[in-house]
Amino acid sequence: MENPKRIAVIGTGYVGLVAGACFADWGHRVTCVDLDAGRIDLLNRGGIPIYEPGLAEVVERAVKAGNLSFTTKVADAVAGCDAAYIAVGTPPSKTDGEADLSFVFECARQIARVIRPGAVIVTKSTVPVGTGDIVERIVEDARPGEHIPVVSNPEFLREGSAINDFTNPDRVVIGTEDEGAKATLLAIYQPLKARGHAVVVTRRRSAELIKYASNAFLAAKITFINEMADLCEAVEADVADIALGVGLDSRIGPHFLHAGPGYGGSCFPKDTLALIRTAQEHGVSLRIVEETVQANSARKRRMAMKVRHVLHGNVEGKKIAILGLTFKADTDDMRDSPAIPMIELLQRSGAEIHAYDPQGEANAKTLFEDVTFHEDPYGCAAQADAVVFMTDWEVLKHLDLARLASIMESPVMIDLRRIYPPEAAARQGFVVETIGRLGSEPHPVDAYAPTFLAQDIAAGTHRGRSLPAYQKQGGLPSQYVNQEEQLFGELIERKDENFEIA
Ligand SMILES: NC(=O)c1ccc[n+]([C@@H]2O[C@H](COP(=O)([O-])OP(=O)(O)OC[C@H]3O[C@@H](n4cnc5c(N)ncnc54)[C@H](O)[C@@H]3O)[C@@H](O)[C@H]2O)c1
Repeated sequence: MENPKRIAVIGTGYVGLVAGACFADWGHRVTCVDLDAGRIDLLNRGGIPIYEPGLAEVVERAVKAGNLSFTTKVADAVAGCDAAYIAVGTPPSKTDGEADLSFVFECARQIARVIRPGAVIVTKSTVPVGTGDIVERIVEDARPGEHIPVVSNPEFLREGSAINDFTNPDRVVIGTEDEGAKATLLAIYQPLKARGHAVVVTRRRSAELIKYASNAFLAAKITFINEMADLCEAVEADVADIALGVGLDSRIGPHFLHAGPGYGGSCFPKDTLALIRTAQEHGVSLRIVEETVQANSARKRRMAMKVRHVLHGNVEGKKIAILGLTFKADTDDMRDSPAIPMIELLQRSGAEIHAYDPQGEANAKTLFEDVTFHEDPYGCAAQADAVVFMTDWEVLKHLDLARLASIMESPVMIDLRRIYPPEAAARQGFVVETIGRLGSEPHPVDAYAPTFLAQDIAAGTHRGRSLPAYQKQGGLPSQYVNQEEQLFGELIERKDENFEIA
């Protein structure tokens, strides 16, 4: 490489480790930092702390080439670097959905102490518009009068295809008004520019907002097709046909039109909420994003009602096998996975939950109590009253359905990823419930949801308690609690009765 840069990347999660490894693979000299000593120790021993296809090979190659190293010491990595990347988490704050920037600011303070003048601080974490200004003030406080530009360089990779996304991006976004910083960033991304990838250089605030606008748009697109799926079930159409016909329109495009149990993961849920908070702070209403958050939240809960419905409205004592736990295939990330409300709601209704996931088990074990984990899908489904497909892992697409049906107590399939054609599953003896088209046993879509607890809602009470009691249990801000969520008042009420509310 002609003009290699010395880069420090702080945070070795899904974004930091992928970015650091790919930069190093291109020929830059990279040091990755994490405060988690166990993580750094594992990396130094040749291990990889997350599941991401292809990442281990890139890391190994870059380490062997002498371009990638790992440390817990920010100072060692940052002193002498040309660019210090901040790639730490920005989780939602506990109270109101606003992004928690404490890790970013702490990181900025640590970098500011040691970075050399002229080097650049780059925010790769997803941060609300204006955060770059605050980071700049932190740096100015620590190093008054010195020239240390702060750049926004948001990341668009997807877990599960992160290496390909990072090395073949639709675009690279660089937000800076500083010419020197722009030159450093362009040099870092030169290998991509040379291969014809678009590089957008813009104002820092615009770059910060591009990231949130992209995620909000994608979340809305998924939510749109999910709502079409609901309509398809009611009018006997098939949402896959709708997605195909709509997606072929070049103004719309075919991606993110796969109906499912609702979006989850570490980005869309938190980024949509953070964007709404930013808009509220500036007195702007983002009605489409607000509706998206509301509809997706209700959808995730409603999926549990599908299971209940197929099991004749009662899952008490029923053994339910959950196949796939992560929010999507090819990752071990459980953050905001639709499997979480599914399992919680079924458990509160008295179901016995068994689960299988090829990569997510370790993270899932930290989230659930009283779930029995299995090493393979058949063991999970043995003697079950129903199997629920939550994630479309490749291994789950090739099951022997006849065998699966034969080992179950009752062969009931709730396929929330549309993995199997209902007719094919029905031929193997399954009763099938799916999404976006009728299952093997046609029924009106609202047989289980909108009529549920209708009298309670009319009366405003259930079992003598007022319905809105559940709003106290936290989660979404109260303005996002809609009528559909009230429909699940019964389940939430049970939470009030049986669980400690944090
Ligand atoms: N995960 C994704 O798919 C994705 C995609 C695009 C953007 N993003 C954004 O990128 C950012 C990082 O996300 P992630 O999923 O990689 O997070 P992550 O939680 O997987 O990793 C963050 C890492 O930072 C480390 N860390 C925190 N504070 C530190 C400090 N002061 N010094 C050193 N290390 C520190 C943590 O120990 C952890 O290993 C977030 O803002 C996220 O929104 C994520």
